[in-house]
Amino acid sequence: MKLTITPKQEKFINSDADEVLFGGAAGGGKSYGQIADAFIYALKYSGSKQLILRRTFPELERSLILTSLAIYPKEVGKYNSTAKKWSFKNGSIIEFGYCDGEKDVYNYQGAEYDTVRFDELTHFTLSQYMYLISRVRGVNNFPKQVKSTANPGGVGHSWVKNRFIDVAEPNQKYSDEYGRTRIFIPSRVEDNSFLMNSDPSYIQRLKQLPEKERKALLYGEWDIFEGQVFSEWRNNRSGYITRRNTHVIKPFEIPKDWRRFRAFDFGYAKPFAVSWFAVDHDGRAYNYRELYGCTGTPDVGVKLTAQEIALRIRKIEDKEEKGNKICGIADPAIWNSTGSSEGSIAEMMERCGVFFSKGNNERLAGKMQVHYRLAFDAEGLPMIYFFENCRNIIRTLPMLVYDSMSPEDVDTRQEDHLYDALKYFLMSSPITPRGNEMKASYNPFAEFDKGCDELCNRFIIS
Ligand SMILES: Nc1ncnc2c1ncn2[C@@H]1O[C@H](COP(=O)(O)OP(=O)(O)O)[C@@H](O)[C@H]1O
Ligand SMILES: [Mg+2]
Repeated sequence: MKLTITPKQEKFINSDADEVLFGGAAGGGKSYGQIADAFIYALKYSGSKQLILRRTFPELERSLILTSLAIYPKEVGKYNSTAKKWSFKNGSIIEFGYCDGEKDVYNYQGAEYDTVRFDELTHFTLSQYMYLISRVRGVNNFPKQVKSTANPGGVGHSWVKNRFIDVAEPNQKYSDEYGRTRIFIPSRVEDNSFLMNSDPSYIQRLKQLPEKERKALLYGEWDIFEGQVFSEWRNNRSGYITRRNTHVIKPFEIPKDWRRFRAFDFGYAKPFAVSWFAVDHDGRAYNYRELYGCTGTPDVGVKLTAQEIALRIRKIEDKEEKGNKICGIADPAIWNSTGSSEGSIAEMMERCGVFFSKGNNERLAGKMQVHYRLAFDAEGLPMIYFFENCRNIIRTLPMLVYDSMSPEDVDTRQEDHLYDALKYFLMSSPITPRGNEMKASYNPFAEFDKGCDELCNRFIIS
């Protein structure tokens, strides 16, 4: 039996980083590379145990298991379809698994593997990943690795991008504060000679996809992807001062006579979110400050109690908002009973001097309000801006993707806490529908090239 691999697959197979991400585009030979690598590992390390994961069972069966059945020679191992497990003559094992719901990770409680492999990592959530990689351990000397493949897009797009794409250049190892290493090895369809030879029209089909999908799947672009809910989002630095064709702007001092709001979404194990908004005389909103209870690991909360959060809000407002009237709006769920004698979260916060009224949490209406606000008019002006210091809403809002089960709504398994706070605020004074007049082909850099200074002088609004 002879296994032939592409040069990129070879890089993936030989990588010794603790966590490896391979691919980033469609057809690059990711799944095949994963199956080939698992096989080589199984033969090299007798008695080793590996787990190969895909989010759902049908996907697992259709792709990875089929490929393994096609390429693993029956002389060296046997596949048991009930246990979804290959057992090799040298004692090595390759197990296939899936992890659909958040709680499915507990199916792997107590299990130990030398290597865990994720196919289509962006389909998984960060908490699933963190739990499952804790299963990589054992007393033998076999290399302990987590090896994954992914395309841009999906619920995990944002954390996968943060963890692998943003930390280092492709093919360069990144070392975290504990000395654990990560690497991203890109592979596109052009890198897969097998597919290019057997199905040259595949690349043509990719080229015919809609723009965002094409960029993600053909070129492996991580900044734009299919499934993005707020595709009208623009963080265009050349507009930070002109305030045109961008949602992110430079902070400025909020005039005293603008109305101010504070929106709140409670979280404990997940981050809590507090956002402050001001509204100018045209009804345009400005998210000028945020307090986000996140540990630094995306979507992990700092576990503050309601009182502790209220005290932090007080500390900020006592210092920064002297004499300002601020209208609080919060998730109506904070009025629910907590079962404790201290009463609801809202009551606990009130006792600390932080007051809210009940927000409207209709999901779809709230989402539409975000669209109407983000829409640009013919002049390139939206109805909401975010100060550049509101880093977390700027990070999380454009990353939200649609729910595959409820295609009109945002997938709630993501880091959507600041988005929720934003909706409570917007639903308190909804605006009439506005369409986005910005052309999809708009190129902010062309404008930048026209001469930034001239533009800045012309359009400074204050
Ligand atoms: N080393 C290889 N030898 C033979 N065929 C390969 C090899 N690598 C990939 N292929 C074939 O190329 C196609 C795309 O590969 P696949 O691994 O499914 O890509 P991806 O998972 O990146 O979309 C499949 O038909 C696969 O069997
Ligand atoms: Mg694949």
